[in-house]
Amino acid sequence: MPLKGQKIGFLGGGAMGEALITGLLRTGLVAPSEVYISDVDAQRLEVLRQKLSVNTTADNRAVVSAADIVIIAVKPHVAASVLKEIAALARPEKTFISIAAGVTISQIESCLEGPVPVIRVMPNTPCLVGEGASAVSAGKHAGEKSMKEALAIFNSAGAAVEVPESLLDCVTGLSGSGPAYMYVVLESLIDGAVRLGLPGDIARKLAAQTMLGAAKMVLETTDHPAKLKNMVTTPGGTTAAGLFALEEGALRSVLMKAVADATRRSREMSG
Ligand SMILES: NC(=O)c1ccc[n+]([C@@H]2O[C@H](COP(=O)([O-])OP(=O)(O)OC[C@H]3O[C@@H](n4cnc5c(N)ncnc54)[C@H](OP(=O)(O)O)[C@@H]3O)[C@@H](O)[C@H]2O)c1
Repeated sequence: MPLKGQKIGFLGGGAMGEALITGLLRTGLVAPSEVYISDVDAQRLEVLRQKLSVNTTADNRAVVSAADIVIIAVKPHVAASVLKEIAALARPEKTFISIAAGVTISQIESCLEGPVPVIRVMPNTPCLVGEGASAVSAGKHAGEKSMKEALAIFNSAGAAVEVPESLLDCVTGLSGSGPAYMYVVLESLIDGAVRLGLPGDIARKLAAQTMLGAAKMVLETTDHPAKLKNMVTTPGGTTAAGLFALEEGALRSVLMKAVADATRRSREMSG
């Protein structure tokens, strides 16, 4: 139980902050009384207080003072000023976790000064429904304890893995941007079925459930997707005909290029 007895503070109570707190409370990893949130928007804080029964304040420094684990969940362009504001309160016994896209571990470490454990995370929007995919990277002062805390927090909002920071741009190109790729695939499948006469709501439900089911097959069997694909492909059958159309349209190379282009863009933006 890496989070037992730990107080968790959120700087920024926006969409991602709320999603993470919801996951932590739903899985019972922390009690509402152990969660602290600060935000510049008083109305937003009131909504969160009523919805989640957590402690709220307009004062970022009060959250850092109260918390053992501090999650920086503001937009990247305000991260530097928030870090400056809280810098003097950073302590080696606290863990600082940032989800601000493109803000590097060394930037955070240099703002906070001293041997402070820093963890950088790239989550994605399905955290909002408890099915996020997050990758977590450790700073030079972050030990096993901090990493276990971060993995527990992000596993409560989906699934989390540890990668070196040098791979976070690739993670951004895969799972960070990935939900948008999946929406395009779903939209296309739905449009294809509607064109042939299937009602839109039925097509939407079947397409989304098919994507969810296929993803679960990959995660739960741990088989390579190619093996699972071959299992549903009868020689001369319908799936083989559909797959040939995908090959003609170069779907595989298009998706591989999407990951590469998004990764390059992520590098440009943080570089
Ligand atoms: N959403 C995603 O899928 C996703 C994925 C990966 C990473 N991230 C990262 O997650 C972070 C949060 O994203 P989000 O979608 O949750 O953003 P968001 O909804 O805009 O939440 C940020 C919150 O912080 C508040 N805030 C602004 N300045 C502040 C300050 N000085 N002190 C305290 N709070 C302040 C904002 O208030 P105002 O709205 O009034 O400014 C807002 O309520 C971003 O850095 C983003 O890069 C998000």
